Amino acid sequence: MREELERLKTDALNNISEADSLQALEQIRVQTLGKKGALTQLLRGLGKVSAEERPALGVLANEIKTAFNASLAERRDILKASALNSKLADEALDISLPGRQPNEGGVHPITRALSEINAVFGRMGFEVATGPEIETDWFNFEALNIPPDHPAREMHDTFYLPTEPDEPKQVLRTHTSPVQIRVMENRQPPLRVIAPGKVFRCDSDITHTPMFHQVEGFAVDEDIHFGHLKGLLETFLIRFFERDLPVRFRPSFFPFTEPSAEVDMGCLFCNSKGCRICKGNGWLEVLGCGMIHPNVLTNVGIDKSRYSGYAFGMGVERLAMLKYGINDLRTFFENDTRFLSKYAVSGI
Ligand code: PHE
Repeated sequence: MREELERLKTDALNNISEADSLQALEQIRVQTLGKKGALTQLLRGLGKVSAEERPALGVLANEIKTAFNASLAERRDILKASALNSKLADEALDISLPGRQPNEGGVHPITRALSEINAVFGRMGFEVATGPEIETDWFNFEALNIPPDHPAREMHDTFYLPTEPDEPKQVLRTHTSPVQIRVMENRQPPLRVIAPGKVFRCDSDITHTPMFHQVEGFAVDEDIHFGHLKGLLETFLIRFFERDLPVRFRPSFFPFTEPSAEVDMGCLFCNSKGCRICKGNGWLEVLGCGMIHPNVLTNVGIDKSRYSGYAFGMGVERLAMLKYGINDLRTFFENDTRFLSKYAVSGI
């Protein structure tokens, strides 16, 4: 019996020190101290040994039990610690991986062009005015010397808003010129104003979008003449495009200006030699302008015998395409982030 106990002790302690998992350790405990465990079985046999031997064997059995439990606890601590360590190692963060870059926002090229245009005119003494995008027929057409049946209305593919027959007609403004009227109706000269904003025309193809941007500009004062307009627009184009450019004025027609002109600048892409962009003639058409028609001054209550003025209007998309080298108008409004990250600048 004593030998058996001693062997059991050696085996059990060996097994414990070799156990490599908490499950294995638990198995050893059950096999030794469980109901059918080896030590439990041996102790049951204690009743059959002689009365002289029994106390010593009992003491030995208890010692074994204590030693077994102590070594079990010690091994359990070791295994728990190493399980924790390997869990920590598994979950370790690889801090050498590069971080994810957040998408950086930027200024849309239209906004950028608008603020560059505003800045150039701002330095020449112009203030900024705005007006509503939904206009009445009066502001968009009539006050600008475009009466109801005037053929010039056909130049504008107008979006009309549904209105009752006795209400004034409402339109999405087809140009920024109504802002001229709104400012002049409320203030007297001297006036030097630019009016940037969205305009709408019922037109959509590769070179037209139903919404686009214009910057209107005008000045009214005593003795304003066409030479002022020429000087201003030449200076504007040279400053906006940041290079010396030839600029020419061609006679044209607008109902609200007289005389009227179309302004061309030398082609930036071929230095006026003629290329695909300028259709071979070396010139790019960039804006419309003229001296404010006396009827317009009368419509807004400005004395046409004392004051004169000029006005001009330019398309922002066109200027932005030429300045930043963008070749498809529609890309401005598709919100494709590849376009935006190519042409957006990060703050101006
Ligand atoms: N409003 C005109 C257009 O949209 C442009 C323009 C403005 C022309 C001012 C002359 C003077 O076509």
